[in-house]
Amino acid sequence: MTRVLVAGGAGYIGSHACKALARAGFMPVTLDSLINGHEQAVRWGPLVKGDLGDRALLGRLLTEEKIEAVMHFAAYLYVGESVEQPAKYYANNVTNTLGLLDAMRDAGISSIVFSSSAATYGTPERNPIPEDHPQLPINPYGETKLAVERALKWYGGAYGIRWAALRYFNAAGADPDGETGEAHDPETHLVPLVLEAGMGKRPPVKLFGTDYPTPDGTAVRDYVHVSDLADAHVLALKRLMAGGESLAANLGTGDGYSVRQILDEAGRALGSPIPHENAPRRAGDPAELVADPSLAMRELGWKPTRSDLPTILKTALAWHRR
Ligand code: NAD
Ligand code: UFG
Repeated sequence: MTRVLVAGGAGYIGSHACKALARAGFMPVTLDSLINGHEQAVRWGPLVKGDLGDRALLGRLLTEEKIEAVMHFAAYLYVGESVEQPAKYYANNVTNTLGLLDAMRDAGISSIVFSSSAATYGTPERNPIPEDHPQLPINPYGETKLAVERALKWYGGAYGIRWAALRYFNAAGADPDGETGEAHDPETHLVPLVLEAGMGKRPPVKLFGTDYPTPDGTAVRDYVHVSDLADAHVLALKRLMAGGESLAANLGTGDGYSVRQILDEAGRALGSPIPHENAPRRAGDPAELVADPSLAMRELGWKPTRSDLPTILKTALAWHRR
């Protein structure tokens, strides 16, 4: 069985990827410090509790665990915090990732799927956004993701590492079987905040900005189901392991929904309206971020099958009710 190191496999997207890997016949070996992850989310293979920055551990792990490929989710991901503490973000998201690439080179491992982000585009000039759109991040978080994309390109050329940088738009939803789901702490993402407000577990949702140049004045995003993201990772890994070319690809649906549309759909799922109040715009939020996902569909054969809003909200709600 091919053994795949999943850095950050105890987190939200990484745990769904472990499940998809196991289903596809791979053995996911999670490396996670549990700084933001959850031990109980590691269900489809072993957990090695440790830090990505521990080079000695990484070197041992890659060889002793007979790792043949890597999926890399481990990072910090709060945009606001990245503005306050850029050093924390550069150290974990960039320095530790370069250490991982060095360890892969030393161990002769040549395939890596990397979690990039729509945040690398900054405020887009147009939507939907194709991969060749200028990448001009507007916060340190997006900068760190772009820095790794660039490093992958150069490391790829020099050391024969093949890579897929998958630029997620808004990950949402939960495993349809209820085996894992979203559990960030603190939670800042819209979908869990909306559902928990609707369930009376949180205060009313603040609509960050109601004066955007969008049809209803609230910001538009491209929500993609986390299990669809996981599938794309497996497809990308198979491509790389078969000797396919490196690529950067958007993972989104091509359909944008406003914050109000999310509230309306969540209200339908819960059977009662979501308590909310208007609030000022959140710094750094673009009005609209919608993917052109055609490259992932063409090159990876990826087809999102659960990323319609009702399925995203139904699976997320089932998870949050547990
Ligand atoms: P998450 O916080 O749930 O998962 C990240 C995991 O990495 C956690 O389990 C954490 O403990 C672990 N980790 C972090 N630093 C580590 C280190 N130095 N050593 C070992 N483990 C470490 O986040 P997520 O939402 O699953 O995001 C996964 C990846 O996807 C991140 O790289 C993030 O930047 C990227 N991403 C997420 C979204 C989103 O909407 N959630 C969108 C775009 C990109
Ligand atoms: N929003 C609210 N109220 C809230 C939370 C969010 O109105 O309480 C709005 C935001 O302003 C935004 C939308 O809901 O318009 C979605 O916000 P999220 O925080 O859920 O997600 P983001 O679009 O800010 O962030 C996502 C990923 C990041 C990535 C970014 C790309 O989670 O990792 O897309 O810019 F960096």
